[in-house]
Amino acid sequence: SAARRALVAELIRDVPDFPKPGVVFKDITPLLASAQGFRAAVTELVATAPERIDVVVGMEARGFVFAAPVALELGAGFVPVRKPGKLPGEVISHSFELEYGFETLTMHRDAIRPGARVLVVDDVLATGGTVGATAALLKEMGAELVHVSVVMELGFLGGHARLAELGIDNCTALVTV
Ligand code: PRP
Ligand code: MG
Repeated sequence: SAARRALVAELIRDVPDFPKPGVVFKDITPLLASAQGFRAAVTELVATAPERIDVVVGMEARGFVFAAPVALELGAGFVPVRKPGKLPGEVISHSFELEYGFETLTMHRDAIRPGARVLVVDDVLATGGTVGATAALLKEMGAELVHVSVVMELGFLGGHARLAELGIDNCTALVTV
């Protein structure tokens, strides 16, 4: 509902000059600390999910916090996308460019069966690099990315357009700034 989304927006705190001067950091910790706010965010994320989701994928670290309860609510499994060196089994990896340097994300090669219907959940969509890399991992596995749901989208960073270029046009943000 609009009221739940307004509460979510209210509970995300702007922190100027973090992690570096000129950047306004979107801090979700007040949202998580609020029982009503966290509940509202999870309820709204669940409402964005299409029918018949088999697996919810969340990205380390902040994506885990939202993706796990969404998976429980949907009766779906949870699969983590992790930063390098954390998963013990055979992994697939995808690297993408950040403002400075590269980031790599990994997933267990056998985590999701081919054809499974996947919902990707993260806290923030900024440049789209994280979701884009996750989509590439899912494609390599033969899983079907049916929807991307994020708590907040930073519209001015062009993440939506970048995802559209990658063929991902099914992305919902609870709050856009
Ligand atoms: C943040 C955020 C998203 C990502 C969005 O994660 O949690 O996952 O950036 O940015 P993008 O759209 O430009 O990829 P971060 O890598 O800072 O790490 P964390 O989740 O482990 O805190
Ligand atoms: Mg993250």
